[in-house]
Formats: sequence, structure tokens, C-alpha cells
Amino acid sequence: MKWILLLLLTSSPLLNLFANEPDSAYIFAYSTGKQDNKAGLHFAWSRDQKTWHAIGPEFAFVKSDYGVWGAEKRMFSPVLTFGPDGYWHALWSVNDQDPTFAYAKSPDLVRWIPQEYPILHHRDNCTELEIQGDGTGKQYILSWIGNHTGSEKFFSTSTTDFKHYTPVKKADEGIRINQRTQANIANRTETGTMHKVSWKLIDGLIKHVQVSKYRNAQHAELMRDDPTRFRDLHQLEANITVQANESKAISDKLIGIFFEDINYAADGGIYAELVQNRGFEYQPTDRKNDPNWHSKTAWKTTNSDVSFEIETASPIHENNKHYAVLTVNKVSAGLQNEGFDGISLKANAKYDFSVFAKTIDGKDGRLKIRLLDEHGTIYGETTTGALTENWKKHEAVLVSKGDVSNGRLEIIPQAEGKIALDMVSLFPQETFNGRKNGLRRDLAQVLADIKPRFVRFPGGCVAHGQGIENIYHWKNTIGPLEARKPQRNLWGYHQSMGLGYYEYFQFCADIGAAPMPIVAAGVPCQNSEKCDHPIGGQQGGIPLEDMGAYIQDILDLIEWANGDPKTNKWAKMRADAGHPEPFNLKYIGVGNEDLISEVFIERFQMIFDAIKEKYPDIVVIGTSGPWSEGSDYERGWEVATELGVPMIDEHYYQTPGWYIHNQDFYDRYDRSKAKVYVGEYAAHLPNRATNMETALTEALHLINIERNADVVSMTSYAPLLAKEKRTQWSPDLIYFNNDEIKPTVGYYVQKLFGVHAGNEYFANHIELNHTDEAVRKRVACSVVKDEESGDIIIRLANLLPVGVSSKVTLDGLLTETAKATKMVLSGQPDADKAQPATAEITVEKDWAYEIPPYSFSVIRVSNPK
Ligand code: AHR
Repeated sequence: MKWILLLLLTSSPLLNLFANEPDSAYIFAYSTGKQDNKAGLHFAWSRDQKTWHAIGPEFAFVKSDYGVWGAEKRMFSPVLTFGPDGYWHALWSVNDQDPTFAYAKSPDLVRWIPQEYPILHHRDNCTELEIQGDGTGKQYILSWIGNHTGSEKFFSTSTTDFKHYTPVKKADEGIRINQRTQANIANRTETGTMHKVSWKLIDGLIKHVQVSKYRNAQHAELMRDDPTRFRDLHQLEANITVQANESKAISDKLIGIFFEDINYAADGGIYAELVQNRGFEYQPTDRKNDPNWHSKTAWKTTNSDVSFEIETASPIHENNKHYAVLTVNKVSAGLQNEGFDGISLKANAKYDFSVFAKTIDGKDGRLKIRLLDEHGTIYGETTTGALTENWKKHEAVLVSKGDVSNGRLEIIPQAEGKIALDMVSLFPQETFNGRKNGLRRDLAQVLADIKPRFVRFPGGCVAHGQGIENIYHWKNTIGPLEARKPQRNLWGYHQSMGLGYYEYFQFCADIGAAPMPIVAAGVPCQNSEKCDHPIGGQQGGIPLEDMGAYIQDILDLIEWANGDPKTNKWAKMRADAGHPEPFNLKYIGVGNEDLISEVFIERFQMIFDAIKEKYPDIVVIGTSGPWSEGSDYERGWEVATELGVPMIDEHYYQTPGWYIHNQDFYDRYDRSKAKVYVGEYAAHLPNRATNMETALTEALHLINIERNADVVSMTSYAPLLAKEKRTQWSPDLIYFNNDEIKPTVGYYVQKLFGVHAGNEYFANHIELNHTDEAVRKRVACSVVKDEESGDIIIRLANLLPVGVSSKVTLDGLLTETAKATKMVLSGQPDADKAQPATAEITVEKDWAYEIPPYSFSVIRVSNPK
């Protein structure tokens, strides 16, 4: 297949081979309605407007990005026009309800500028759009039919730039130009628009499809085909020369972690609280109006002597409106909480219980508190002090007399009558670093073991939220737990905010990692469910008049983290919470893989300018959208370059083949532009498994990144945590349940890079006794030095089914035999339980090393002389 690419990519002299080509021909632009209208915009070409040649066929040159994944992202009745500005302008309807449409433009029909979804009026949907010049070559007239009320109405507007539109007018049918026509393409009658264009443009479309197909085939390569792909391959030999005199400084923050409350990573996960729905704040709206998800979820009464209802009349705090009111007819029964898939108790461990309670009918009974297993056996018991008429926090310590994995917490009122309860909490005393309101020790430790240099939080999509009201506001997450403002988690559950900004920053301080909060760039997630906000269509955006307050919140965050408690009220809150020293906040991410629309750009710039002006030392991290190429990626980089943003957050979840065939991705980057933070990445197999194949691919990618760690400053695999049976996204780095932690093979790759990091990189050269590119691309090496210890770290990845007998020349790096630790992760591609095997070895200047098949080796040479 390689020759095809060569032909495609080789320029002008070869074009003469096709001297019979026409100067111009016709293209037909259409969408088919296939894949529930999600298949995108297609082209066919013709010389005579009769015989049409489908390009692709049905290749998606641009897809609609409007609305949520799954249900939306649909394209109806696209129309195209070529403007005097040298751009193609495309419009299409996004559905049959929303008062908006999609607009995109392109210089060549291949590269598209990010889409916009203008809302020009608020009543009618926009179907069957048409676009025409007004005859002056200066402005475009748009018209459409609004029909969602049943009757058809015609509307029109005009624009010169597709950013500003004249007020929408009702029009009559006469305005329509019947822009669409029909063409027979592959025996189907398609409706679309026809345009006479240069052959060069058509040729560009055809070649783009061919290159895409070639690349897709490469990216689809999987190790399961290795027995065929490498059937004649035998043990290989390699000379690996490390060039001691060719070194460069690299980032000392390369490996970090991305924490998002997805897959129950926070509540029910790393946040050690054992009571589910402790504040009775779950709401059906957390889960698209799920009637089975409400204030009583996870709670039940143990018999009919007690009943309970949810009230809101006099809460402890307005942010935490709901509380339970128990009516006790006979002292015997209680209210039980099932925890998050049960409560895990450890023998002899101590648990802090607390509850806000009050009597409603004047009786001053106490509460008996019990730890139970699922059969009702009591494992611990205590009694609180007497309840009072006003809300009061009661605390007690319970000790579990045994191990229980599916336990319950029971509260049994000791007097008849009515009482109110809220913020019922059971917390293991043993948390990570013994922090109050802290993190589950085993889970936090497995993260600390990676030695991450930074922690990104709170997302991901959780950071920018689903709709403006769902944007994550850090101020709602600090202070007393009962005053924090819980909210819907866009992954389909609830965020108590018990794990809030103070806890995130404290964790960073505890593990010596730089905190990296991500704030929304004034826009919510572009995949949000319908957003009928008048500003900016689907993506929406905080109204400009509210942006000042929003920006102030971000500036306050910097003060809260770094300021002087004596002079700043936010810093004082940090100190009062237990951290008088600054948290040394240096990085703030603004935006999360957003659509780089005008709405985004305007708000991003406002935030960026404000931070830069007041805190020039803070590194603002911008975004280049959700992909490693395409319109948002290009526009994101363009905007960041224009504004001088110092670092860009790139996201891409790619197939193993992508990583193998894009090893020079960062070698191509312009070193004079922004640094890169690879904020979300992972190798995705078609079945989303995580195993040696994905782990080796990620190791290969990190080796390539390490070579480019003068431009790539930071990386974080995503997502990090996933609770078994509560997983919305696969694969993840670490799976867990209430009792066990199950790191994936990929976890060990992160750990091998994190623990054995360097800050100086040495170039190397691999001379393999095989010329096939497919083979050569699957062996990689990286050598770094950790200045602090003086150790040299050698990494070798072998993604082949055969071993490589290698001679590693470390000339200039060591003269004497040195002690080293060898850590090798190896196994068949589908092995999902592999762990590194460690051995102590010696290494000399010319060192022979057998690289095992399908392996990733890290050799740490101790302070070589
Ligand atoms: O990592 C999971 C999700 O992937 C993140 O929330 C989002 O940023 C990305 O699309």
C-alpha cells in the first residue's frame, strides 16, 4: 500500500501524468440520512452532471458536532456556497426542534473551521436552509423554514461574516431559490447542492480520502494480527548507541495524574466517606429524571415502626436543603444506609460517625448507632448524646469487631416522636496521611506510588459541566461539609463535594505534586444536552455581563491557594481550614477540550488576560479541543499562538496503531510556540480492553514523548479510577471495589515512568538487523538522567513477538561497571495481569541485553561513574 501514499504525496512532476484531467467539473454535496443522519457531509463528482462518482464513497468530510453524543450530532439537508472571501460556507439543520442551525466554513472542503450554532430567534426550528449571495458580493442571505408547530413559516436574515446577522425577518415563499437538486449516486437518488469547481479541488478531495484510508488502515493495526504480519520474523539483533554528548534538558514534570469524578472515582471511591447520599441531596435530575434516584436513595427503614420523609423547610444550610424526618411509633427500628454497594469494615478499625440531628416534637431521645453486616449481625455499636430542638452535630467513634464487605450503618432513635437527621457520616479514621475528611488510604497510596509530579482535577468534562448551571465552581466545594453545594455529576450520578478543592490541594501537598485545577473557560461542554441559552447556541457561554464575577472567582482561587491569610480573606479561609502555608499553585487549566467557537475564544481571552495581568507567574493552560487533529485542534493552536498562551492541553484517545504510526507527532512541533500538556490520552482497543497491548503502546508513546519533553511538559493518562460495576468509561488506569485495588498493566507503565523520571535526555540510535518499517517502528529506546540521584534510566520497548538481542553502548555515560535495577513488564498482548519483574543486575559501557518479546524494560543504573 505504501506506493499509493508515495504517489499521493509526491508533488507536481507526477501531476503531469494526469494531463488528461479536466480544468473543472461538478461536485455534488449531500448527506444521506444513514447512521441516523450522523454520517456527515459527502461529495460526488461529475463531468456532465449525469454520471456521478461518489468520493469515498460517502466519506464524511465534516460531521455535525451539535448536541450530546449518541442522540444528536446529526446533519440534515446541508447546503453549500462558495463565497467571495475564498471560503466554502456550509449550513445544515441539526434537528427538527432547536431554533438554531450549524455553520462551518472551509478553504478546500477538507479542512473545516470549528462549527458555530447561532441562535437568531427563539421560537422556531430551522429546516431546509438556503444560502445565496445578495448580488453585491458582500453579503449572504440565509432563509429557512420553521415548522415545528405544524405550520410552515419562512424566515430570512443576512450576514457578511457568519458572526453577525441582521434581525430575523418573516419572509414569504418567494425568497426561496430551490437551491437543492437531485443526483443519482450509486443507484440512489440523493438531494444536495451542485457546484462547478476546479479539478484541483476535486483531486484534493479524492486524495484526501485515499490518504485517510491509508492512515486508517495503519491505525487499525492490532497485535492479534502479528502472527500473520510477522510470520517470518525471528529473533532480532540491535546495536543501540546512546549519544552522551547529544543531550537536552527535559521537563521534570512529565508524569502526572488526571483525576475526574467519573466511574465513582470520588464519592464511593477515593473520598473515604462510607455513607451514600449522606445529605439526602440526590435528585432525579442527577440522572435524567430517574425516578429511582432521589433523596431517599441508599436509605431504608428497617420496619414499619419507623417511617421517614424528606423535608426542606428548615435545613442546616441553604446549600444542603434536604433532610430526613423520622417518625418513630415504637422504639425498635431505625434508618439504614447501604453505603456505596455496601460498607466495607475492617476488624478493629475505628470509624468516626457524625450526624446533624434535632428533635421536632420536643422529645430528647438519643440515637443508637450500629455497624451491621448484610444479615444484620452487629459489628459495632454506640449511642449519641441527647438530641436538642436545634440542629446539632453529634459525633461518636465505632470500632468494627470484624471484617465486613457488605455492611450497613443503622441509626435507631431511642425515643418515640419525630426527629430530623442530615449529613450522616461514617468515616474510617485511617485515611491517607490521617487527614480528616480525607481519602481512602489504599487508593490514594496507589496514586502516590506513581510519584505523579502534578494532579489535574476536577476533570475532564466535570470541570466544564453539562450546561452553564452545571459548571464546576470551586467555591461551592470548600468550607464546612454541610455548607458545600452538591451538584449533578454529568456522568450520571451525584457529587457531594465532600472531596472539594481543599482536599484536592491537600492531597497534592501530601504527595509532593503540583496542583493543576481546571476551570471552565466560561463555556460548558459542547456535548451538553440541549442548551437554550440565548448566547451562542448549543455550547452556550456564561453571559458576558456575568463574566466579571466568574473571572473574579478564578482570581480568588489563586488567592485562596497562594495568598497571605493576614491580608486576603480567601487565603484566610485556607488557613482556617488547616493550611496556613500557601499551596504553591502554579498551573491553571482554562477550558477542557472545548469547541473552539467564537463564544469560547471571547471568554477564554477574558480569563487569560485577567490572570496574566494579575498573576503573570501563573502558567495558564489552554485547550486544543478533543482530538489530535481537525478543526478544534488547529483553531485551538492558532488562538493560543495569537494570544501567547504558554501551554496547551491536548487530548486524544487513539488506537494502538495510531501511536505506532505517529511516533514523530511531537518531533514536528514548533519549539517556539506553546508547550504541550497531554492532559488526556490512552490506547483504545476496539473492545476497550486494557492489557499488555495497550500498556506497551502507551510505553512507546511515552518514550516518544520523553524524546520531545523539551516541548511536551506534562502528561496524564485518562481516566484514572473506575469502580467495578460503576464504570461509565473504559479503559481506566486503576479499577477498584470497596475492598480491593486492581491496577491495570498500564498503571505499571505510568509508575515506571513516574518513579524513574529524568530531567536530561540523551539521544540514541537503534541499528536493527531488519529493514522493514513495520518491524523497526516497534522497537524504541529512551535514555534519561535524573540529576538529583545521578542515575541513568534506560527504557526499551519491544512491541514485536520476537526478542531483540541488543548491544547497548553507553559511551561517555559510564566507564566502570555499575549496579542497576532491571524492571521488565512482559507478556502476550492480551495479558491483563502482567506486573514488572525486578532484578538487580550490573551494566557496563558495552552492555548486552536481551529485550524480551512484547516487553517494556526500565533499567535504572545507580549513579554510574
Ligand atoms: O476522561 C474521560 C473524558 O474524556 C473526560 O471527561 C473528557 O475530557 C474526555 O472527553
